[in-house]
Amino acid sequence: MELVICDTPEEIASLAADRIEALIQAKPNAVLGTATGSSPLPLYDELARRCDEGRISFAGVTGFMLDEYVGLEEKHPERYANFMETNLRSRIDMPKGALQGPDALNVDPQAACREYEEKMAQAGYCDLQILGIGSDGHIGFNEPGGSLQSRTHLGVLTEQTRSDNARFFNDDIDAVPTHCITQGLYTIMQARQLLLIATGENKAKAIAQLIEGPISAAWPATIMQMHPEAVVFVDPAAASLLEHAGPEGWK
Ligand code: F6R
Repeated sequence: MELVICDTPEEIASLAADRIEALIQAKPNAVLGTATGSSPLPLYDELARRCDEGRISFAGVTGFMLDEYVGLEEKHPERYANFMETNLRSRIDMPKGALQGPDALNVDPQAACREYEEKMAQAGYCDLQILGIGSDGHIGFNEPGGSLQSRTHLGVLTEQTRSDNARFFNDDIDAVPTHCITQGLYTIMQARQLLLIATGENKAKAIAQLIEGPISAAWPATIMQMHPEAVVFVDPAAASLLEHAGPEGWK
């Protein structure tokens, strides 16, 4: 796994955007996996800027979202489909409908999970999957204790994740959904490249486990140690509990 420690979120955004630009140059019809939450927002700003400048075109790119809350009404701004439309899809030249997410409005969530996994399999899974990490070590919404080989499934959010995400719901933990549909760890691991972004001290323990801990369902992101093409971008605060990282990062 490649670890890159950057001074600022803007530097992370720029280096991460370089990887996505290189992918799309090599493969204009690339399949991109997108994450929600605050960590990738500077990257999405940078991708939108490069698209405006004519440096990258997403016209042929399609995408799959990592996950979606269950139980939010269709127009809710924190529904990940709406979040991704606002923060990325509508700001780039990706055609409407080209970025898909799990159908958490389906009355049969299990069927929605099966359909989503099938769609991803048919597309050959993602060329590059963007990831954030939860303070409890989740990627997607694969919470501690789940299978390391899971496919897209209906999941239950931990109290820790709901408390972390309450900031998006006027600090009201009761407004944060309890359930989600998420790509599984197997699903995420099918991507040809994984690109994870983590900033801030709140992520330091999870990053230390991800990079230096044993592979374990207790810290689901650690499965990434098995991936041949994974890069982790962190700031000094997120890197602060690593034992072996020097200032240049660790490879
Ligand atoms: C979002 C997702 C989550 C977040 C993680 C970190 O689609 O799947 O794994 O990436 O919860 O969230 P932030 O970036 O808000 O700290």
